Amino acid sequence: MEDRRDRAAGNGTLFGKLADGTEVHRWALENGGTRLKVLDYGGVVQSLEIPDRHGHHRNVSLGFDTIEDYVASSPYFGALIGRYGNRIGDGRFTLDGTPHRVDVNDGANSLHGGGRGFDSRMWDVEPFTQGSDVGLYLSRTSADGEMGYPGTLEVKVTYTLTERGDWRIDYEATTDRTTVVNLTSHVYWNLAGEGSGSVHDHELWIAASRYTPVDSGLIPTGELAEVAGTPFDFRRAKTVGEDLRVAHEQLLYAKGMDHNWVLDKGATAKPLPVATLRDPVSGRTLRVSTTEPGLQFYSGNFLDGTLVGTGGNVYRQGDALCLETQHFPDSPNKPSFPSTVLRPGQTYRSTTVHSFDR
Ligand code: BGC
Repeated sequence: MEDRRDRAAGNGTLFGKLADGTEVHRWALENGGTRLKVLDYGGVVQSLEIPDRHGHHRNVSLGFDTIEDYVASSPYFGALIGRYGNRIGDGRFTLDGTPHRVDVNDGANSLHGGGRGFDSRMWDVEPFTQGSDVGLYLSRTSADGEMGYPGTLEVKVTYTLTERGDWRIDYEATTDRTTVVNLTSHVYWNLAGEGSGSVHDHELWIAASRYTPVDSGLIPTGELAEVAGTPFDFRRAKTVGEDLRVAHEQLLYAKGMDHNWVLDKGATAKPLPVATLRDPVSGRTLRVSTTEPGLQFYSGNFLDGTLVGTGGNVYRQGDALCLETQHFPDSPNKPSFPSTVLRPGQTYRSTTVHSFDR
């Protein structure tokens, strides 16, 4: 492992240092018109540039210029999320009769793996070229008991940039004790360019007839509710802002959209198209395909004008949105939801592809 790390570090450039002196490196990849910059801290996508219809590149992902900003105040900008994407109610669940308590960091609940989730951990990074693809292998071992989760989890994440400029993420994990896993990526998208203002005019399509309503702590109630006749209906593309100010109880709980859509295709062996986001002005278009059964659409509700991003501008509410492919929040406590349990001998696998058009 040490060896591999050294070789990889040779290819990244120094981005900064953590308080304990650990060096953080940044890798830059380019293929098919897409430019990606990734940190070994949190597997963070620090910058993702794609062209508009005139060939002009902009960075479409919110982020920071310094490692100090990521450590001090990042709301998961561009980060890998684990062990459990989104919330686990009260930070408690029972597996095979054994109760577990995981780190509580969001009111009474556990969010995105707890206070020190995968987003703030160091990853081993190794660049690769395979045919016309370029990419990075990211890996880390999450120790038994980390943030309260049972089992030593060996995690491998592959970021691939394809010849046509698609960004593909393949996740893999194995465990030595029965545990739960739900990995995702937390890019904040603004297809007009980070720091350029609100994404409320972006058009969004989500292939889901149902979503999982939440309680006031944003924990799913267990119901799979129809989107028909509600602001949550994106089966025909509409602007993000169109129904965001409708006086619907669910929008009040989350200060906007921050919900899990139940994808009509369900869990699939191959990634299938589930969402399209388009900025009509620049033409930049993101198409998301995934193997996962759920998609968290978060409309950047908690960005509050206190963070200054990579381009030197302040991020305000609604200046970006997240489309996080996942299993449903709080699945460990919801037997009717697709299972997030991983047992020794099994391999967790998940794939999400981000395709870009203009
Ligand atoms: C969650 C939000 C949370 C945000 C953190 C999203 O995935 O659903 O509730 O505030 O991450 O920035």
